Amino acid sequence: MEQCITIESLRHARNTLGNVGFVPTMGFLHEGHLSLVRRAKAENDAVIVSIFVNPAQFGPGEDFETYPRSLEQDMALLAKEGVDIVFTPKAGDIYPQNYVTEVSVKGVATQLEGASRPGHFTGVATIVTKLFNIVQPQKAYFGQKDAQQCAVIKRFVADLNIPVTIITVPTWREKDGLASSSRNVRLNPEEREKAPALYKALQRAQSLFQKGERDRNVLEKAIRDTLKQNNIEKIDYAKIVDPLTFQEVNPVSESGIALLAVPFSQARLIDNLPLALE
Ligand code: PAF
Repeated sequence: MEQCITIESLRHARNTLGNVGFVPTMGFLHEGHLSLVRRAKAENDAVIVSIFVNPAQFGPGEDFETYPRSLEQDMALLAKEGVDIVFTPKAGDIYPQNYVTEVSVKGVATQLEGASRPGHFTGVATIVTKLFNIVQPQKAYFGQKDAQQCAVIKRFVADLNIPVTIITVPTWREKDGLASSSRNVRLNPEEREKAPALYKALQRAQSLFQKGERDRNVLEKAIRDTLKQNNIEKIDYAKIVDPLTFQEVNPVSESGIALLAVPFSQARLIDNLPLALE
């Protein structure tokens, strides 16, 4: 496994590879990331993983400084998976002093995470576009846990005619249902005990939908009620939307997806579940 730090060295190393599957990450890797790597490995000649905690997608007061980092451990995990190249660029190379260009997505990027975290998706769309231009992968892999991020990426890839296929990989969950996230380590023991309620709340909406409930308000209330029954009082949002536009839909159709965001003391967690059985 080769580590490339400069853009030039990455381009040089990439040119020796055939079809590339690309897994962009911010590091502190967990089983969810490794499931993306394994899928990429199964479907391509070679796999490139990037590790870059992207300052542009964190708002003021968010957790950029404290975002968990573990490069040595990440490198060992990726070597074990048989990854070909790990790209670990420096922020100054990605965003040089004279840098003034951004990729800004309207529509799908404006609700939910876009509303709660202004500028977040511009930061994501900009870095992912730059990484696609640098790595030039045939396929790129993202986790379903970040459903809105996946929808935003698919939107700008289509809009900007970027020649890459976006693959969404199912959410990796702990045994108790908590979606794997690098931020889970920041839950205190009491919060960690409560956190599986996020998945339970989404499952509650899914189960009502299976039984024929199509009223968005009823389904959203069921999510909030389940969270409250599990002593989670603070909820950023609990919504049912269309998975492509992220617009609220009522009555809810087969393609509807339930999403929530819950702030804990040191970490804000998100999760989602399609309402029709997967
Ligand atoms: O999902 C993430 O880890 C990040 O948003 C991504 C796609 C690597 C861009 O920084």
